Amino acid sequence: TFVVGEDCIKCKHTDCVEVCPVDCFYEGPNFLVIHPDECIDCALCEPECPVNAIFSEDELPDDQQVFLELNAELSEVWPNITEMKDGPADAEEWAGKPNKLQYLER
Ligand code: SF4
Ligand code: F3S
Repeated sequence: TFVVGEDCIKCKHTDCVEVCPVDCFYEGPNFLVIHPDECIDCALCEPECPVNAIFSEDELPDDQQVFLELNAELSEVWPNITEMKDGPADAEEWAGKPNKLQYLER
């Protein structure tokens, strides 16, 4: 499966959802997740993310392993998103900032 990692938090550009052939992205207040049982590993979303927040499970950095569980858990409760929308107005300011997990809203 592919996994949305920490760099998406407070950036949420949503370019990724447009290309997913199986519509397996789910949306929270300031982060998106991929449903691990629905993702078909096509890899189309990975290059679409302007902040490089998406990884294949195999390439997820060691310090982001918690996002495997977060994608699985939150994709069961958040609503599906299939169309791109405007990201947060301050998305640029948060691009690449470390330690954003503390800001994740559920
Ligand atoms: Fe969707 Fe493909 Fe990305 Fe999986 S890898 S979330 S199927 S676009
Ligand atoms: Fe997040 Fe990147 Fe998609 S910022 S919403 S993973 S395009």
